[in-house]
Amino acid sequence: MDRRWWQGAALYQLYVRSWQDSDGDGYGDLRGIIARLDHLEWLGVDGIWLSPTMPSPDHDWGYDVSDYRGVHPELGTMADLDALIQAADQRGMRVLLDLVPNHTSSAHPWFVESAASLDGPLRDYYVWADPAIGGGPPNNWLDFTGRPAWQWDDRTGQYYLHNFLAAQPDLNWWQPAVHEEFRQILAFWFDRGVAGFRIDVAHGLYKDALLRDNPAAAEGGSPLGGRFGLRPEYNENRPEVHGLYRAWRELADQYSPPRLLLGETWVGDVSQLAAFYGHDDELQLAFNFPFVFAGFSAADLAGVVASTMAALPPGACPVWTASNHDVGRFASRWCGGDDAKIRLALLVLAALPGTLVLYYGDEIGMTDVTVPPELARDLLAGGSRQLGRDRARTPMQWDDTPTGGFTAPGVRSWLPAGDVAARNVAAQRLDPGSVLSFCRELLRVRRAHAGQELAGYEPLAAPDGVWHFTAGGLTVAANFTGQQVSLPPLARHVLVSSAGTREQAGGSALRPWEGVIAA
Ligand code: NOJ
Repeated sequence: MDRRWWQGAALYQLYVRSWQDSDGDGYGDLRGIIARLDHLEWLGVDGIWLSPTMPSPDHDWGYDVSDYRGVHPELGTMADLDALIQAADQRGMRVLLDLVPNHTSSAHPWFVESAASLDGPLRDYYVWADPAIGGGPPNNWLDFTGRPAWQWDDRTGQYYLHNFLAAQPDLNWWQPAVHEEFRQILAFWFDRGVAGFRIDVAHGLYKDALLRDNPAAAEGGSPLGGRFGLRPEYNENRPEVHGLYRAWRELADQYSPPRLLLGETWVGDVSQLAAFYGHDDELQLAFNFPFVFAGFSAADLAGVVASTMAALPPGACPVWTASNHDVGRFASRWCGGDDAKIRLALLVLAALPGTLVLYYGDEIGMTDVTVPPELARDLLAGGSRQLGRDRARTPMQWDDTPTGGFTAPGVRSWLPAGDVAARNVAAQRLDPGSVLSFCRELLRVRRAHAGQELAGYEPLAAPDGVWHFTAGGLTVAANFTGQQVSLPPLARHVLVSSAGTREQAGGSALRPWEGVIAA
């Protein structure tokens, strides 16, 4: 029964530092999560993915790991994590951790030893290279800030590779010992009851063995295309990574229930995305960034969904998300903070077949928050990330007190809170017409109808601006225009409408930005 528990499930990405502070230091923590689990149970969540929890110097807020078997002291202890897994389990929720296998922190003992000498046993754990002929970095690769991806190291007279910050040296996945290290790390956490991992930079682990230059690309375009004038052909998305995921899947499948591998597969087209599922022998879920970056229109969203469903191998489970700690919140990007659009977006997200991943705050329609430069915390901002990522990492808005209920009164939170009066959990829980109440109803309908069988997806004919489809036993009609549109009568009973009670609209007309789910 439980084998593919993620099919039809609603997962919730929880940015630990920003969800609930239990000890008044201004940072969210694991004990804070335990204290607020009731919210997730009430909402109808099946599992949570915790942003990085391992010890880290926090140059990239946990995405620079210095110990893969520990818990960051600022977030809690191993006992707290065990307690969280247990408390979540009692509520029927599973816990996924964030695994960062592309790079470590430069403070990780592996790197410290690797950097110490040219011929030490761990030298090859990282990607070291001589200067180019004539001097300078070994090739033209750029990191995510647009600077050369190579850091000169005086002690041994070589450069090391960092696709992100210099404090995040890339591991060398051509080195079998690195595979063995991670096999043990996976087993360590799986044995502790962790339900699986979200895998950071899942497309990026292998680099071209010959370190060839990246080709030129047209500037601009989608965040999934070229970066800084280069197409990242040789420093990520190399085919060898698939062999690694086959090995990890074998390990994950040895557990009961099988452990889940959910990849951050930052690729520009759905056929590359589909490859990460292998023949049902690699990742069980691969994040769909073409969907995240699609325009908020019936044509764009329906287009990505149709091509995804066509590309995925038989039996593969799609996963839909629209916000995260890197790309910002859909309530801003797609909806400009407009409640009618936010409700419509939640409705289609909840109705699509497969796995849903909500980002904390999506359930109350939290929007991006403008963080003034003097309070910024994200060192990777700038370059291709002009908007900065702090905007979607601000404290969860629990109530309308000055700290939003996130931390103790009078404490300054690590990032400023947004407009807690405009949107907060406490007020929305009391209001049956709120985004939160609506989101909960959507998850209830989803749970009642989705089941664990993977639903099929069939697009239906519809007027321009309307997205009309069936997903398993559910029929969806979603009006992505500001005008009322009429539809052929829905031969089914309307279960939920994003615009409130259905009767008001009459017939099968859809009000502006209204979506309905019928069964
Ligand atoms: C993707 C993570 O989501 C992001 O926050 C991080 O900066 C990079 N990977 C590097 O780990």
